Amino acid sequence: MDLSEVLISEDEIKDMVKRVASEIDRDYEGEELVVIGVLTGAFIFVSDLVREMKTHSVIDFMQVSSYAGTVSTGEINIKKDISTDIRGKNVIVVEDIIDTGNTLKALKAKLLERGPKSLKICTAFDKPSRRVNDLVPDYNGITIPDEFIVGYGLDYDGAFRDFKEIRIVR
Ligand code: IMP
Ligand code: MG
Repeated sequence: MDLSEVLISEDEIKDMVKRVASEIDRDYEGEELVVIGVLTGAFIFVSDLVREMKTHSVIDFMQVSSYAGTVSTGEINIKKDISTDIRGKNVIVVEDIIDTGNTLKALKAKLLERGPKSLKICTAFDKPSRRVNDLVPDYNGITIPDEFIVGYGLDYDGAFRDFKEIRIVR
């Protein structure tokens, strides 16, 4: 396994977080907001994003896993649920990266059953070339090519989440 040179620098990530935070602020001015981070990968992005946002939010986390063998149907298992009641609330689900889109498509459907006022998707990184469904993030940090990336919360077998920059694993 090899790590590439820096693909996305710490400064580029900081600029991206500021831009996404200002887009969210523009859309939610004066509104109540619940931010749901998807564990584990999104923990760093969530913590940077909510501190850049002027909009105050209630912050909670979920952890989900795909059912083995059902990748194509995109069914998910909730390993850790939020403790926040989202009925009637504005919700933004924050992910580290969207790949096939299966995880978020299924998670979105489950959360919509709970009757939020609105539900949007925010991701730090997006690989649209890998998508197998119609999922489009409402807020997208940086679009990346079809490569496996690590750093800024994203891991390879649990490693490299602590990198401040993004590198490619080959
Ligand atoms: P999806 O359901 O195919 O969209 O998968 C999304 C999840 O796969 C992300 O939340 C990550 O945990 C993982 N993932 C997809 N691509 C990458 C990558 O390039 N690096 C690290 N994790 C990834
Ligand atoms: Mg993940």
